[in-house]
Amino acid sequence: MSQLDVATLFTANIIRALLVAGVVALVWGRFSGHGLKLSHLPLLGQKGQANFYKALEDAYYNCKSLRRIPMRRHDIVWVPPKFISEVSALPESKVSVALDSATRFHGKYTGLGIIDFHFVDVIRIHVTRNLAKMFVPEDLAKNSVWVDLMINYTVVSMQAVEELHSYPMWTHPVVARFLPKCRVITDYRRRARDLLRPILEERRRLVDTDPTFVMPPDTLSWIIKEKGEGGWDPDYQARVQILIGVGSIHTTTNALSNTLFDIISTPGVTDELRTEYIDTLAANGGKMNKIALNSLVKFDSVMRESQRLNPSHAIAIGRMTTADLKLSDGEVVPRNTHFLFSSAAANKDPSVYASPDVFDPWRFVKLREAETNKADEGKWQFVATGPNSLGFGHGTHACPGRFFASNEMRLILGNLLLRYEFKFGDGIGRPRSLLGETTILPDTKTKVLIKSCK
Ligand code: HEM
Ligand SMILES: *[C@@H]1O[C@H](CO)[C@@H](O)[C@H](O)[C@H]1NC(C)=O
Repeated sequence: MSQLDVATLFTANIIRALLVAGVVALVWGRFSGHGLKLSHLPLLGQKGQANFYKALEDAYYNCKSLRRIPMRRHDIVWVPPKFISEVSALPESKVSVALDSATRFHGKYTGLGIIDFHFVDVIRIHVTRNLAKMFVPEDLAKNSVWVDLMINYTVVSMQAVEELHSYPMWTHPVVARFLPKCRVITDYRRRARDLLRPILEERRRLVDTDPTFVMPPDTLSWIIKEKGEGGWDPDYQARVQILIGVGSIHTTTNALSNTLFDIISTPGVTDELRTEYIDTLAANGGKMNKIALNSLVKFDSVMRESQRLNPSHAIAIGRMTTADLKLSDGEVVPRNTHFLFSSAAANKDPSVYASPDVFDPWRFVKLREAETNKADEGKWQFVATGPNSLGFGHGTHACPGRFFASNEMRLILGNLLLRYEFKFGDGIGRPRSLLGETTILPDTKTKVLIKSCK
């Protein structure tokens, strides 16, 4: 190797090293800089811990000021429960759920970020108003590839988050193209788009040519209504449909599994619920409607009690600050910082719930009846959110799909109970939930014995 070569090589390497250093410094400053600003906060839990369930519970009762949770990818600020009301009511521009998901779930590559809030309005307004309708046209809803895509997406996208977690952020634009799970979800998105395109094109044609054409009542139309022209883009529709699927399928399935586990394992509950459902059907000429569903207060109580003891997360109201956030006691959550609250612990607060560890199926029926003012009964409903009822979040971004989910669950549970008897195998009781870093999942490997009712 000649001297010149060595020199060239040397210079090239220096330039490369400087470039890399520059990029690293930039990225470090942008994504990890806040970690330095947080270093003064006391730690909650230890890095690498399998789950933070216990730490979050301890903090709920014992910590009065900000803490730092060393989660796998970055530190997250824990905020004491007394601030839930003031913080959850803040607008997206101050504490952002979109930024939080974009960075924590690598939304740009996994599709798990909130693209815009039009689709949230679609659910908040239209889905809630049209509870009996389907999300997508019937042909598509019955297309097994579509259904599979929607179900699989959540699972694979969470695996893609894991894949991306093991690479530095700045490499994501490149590695996301090669990582196996990232490729699968890109393929899912493409297939969803291809299934939606002909439906959208046909609707567009009818809108343009047939003045009597009325858009069918489904999420495709509502998305166009809320988004405008951009709603016709099959790629946008696919992204939004996937997000709706991610937000609704597994959450509802988990809630149903938990409720069923609790119904089966608590003596007498099946019969009382069955009777309530049959009586309500009889009083409504054999048909369920929104008002009849709403009168199923025992179902409501069981569903809420089940969610109280087995919510899907130990945390709630995960957000990212867009500017320094000064709390009412003077403490500050710095700009560009992820923060969250303990939620599972709040559900077991003995100052709100008597015998908090006991599954009492009629707890919320009794709490409703104890209210002297009828208007106050609402706060004990399944869909009610509050500082001690965070299963659907609370405040500005509280789950807009909860009214739909609540009715859907009653219909499914009611119909299951009318048709079948359930029990666990001999010697098997209600399975304990499985704990992730902050998730709480029903053990779906549990065997349940089912037979038709006579
Ligand atoms: C039992 C079932 C469900 C549970 C436990 C659940 C839970 C949640 C939770 C905890 C949040 C976050 C709230 C926050 O950050 O403050 C949320 C948000 C959301 N959920 Fe649900 N959800 C359920 C069903 C559904 C359904 C059926 C849909 C759609 C039809 C849906 C659509 C959404 C959307 C779009 C958001 C984002 C709202 C926003 O950021 O403004 N969810 N849900
Ligand atoms: C969804 O996942 C299941 C199980 O892994 C698989 O059999 C199926 O082919 C997947 N569906 C699609 C559309 O990729």
